[in-house]
Amino acid sequence: MQWIDAAAAGEIGEGQSVTVAAGLHMIAVIRSDGELYAIEDVCTHDGEALTGGGIEDRQIICPRHGARFCLRTGEALTPPAYEPVRVFETKLEDGRVWVLAD
Ligand code: FES
Repeated sequence: MQWIDAAAAGEIGEGQSVTVAAGLHMIAVIRSDGELYAIEDVCTHDGEALTGGGIEDRQIICPRHGARFCLRTGEALTPPAYEPVRVFETKLEDGRVWVLAD
């Protein structure tokens, strides 16, 4: 596991996201309700990137078929997705957002 420098904290506004490559993963770093979250940027329904989907109430909505995922736990909250997305730990340090990835 290693901390990846994802972005300057100011780059991710409320309801916005950035995507970073970390090894084999694409990770979306998202701010919702003032908090930062990091999730694997792949919908578990059919592989769509989740970035570009709506972000509200600490959830992200897949732009393809509308499944909702909890940003805190990765849980799939609505069909057609049933499997959770992976979540990653984040931290703020020196004005930057870091993601703990493998
Ligand atoms: S690909 Fe995300 S809901 Fe279908």
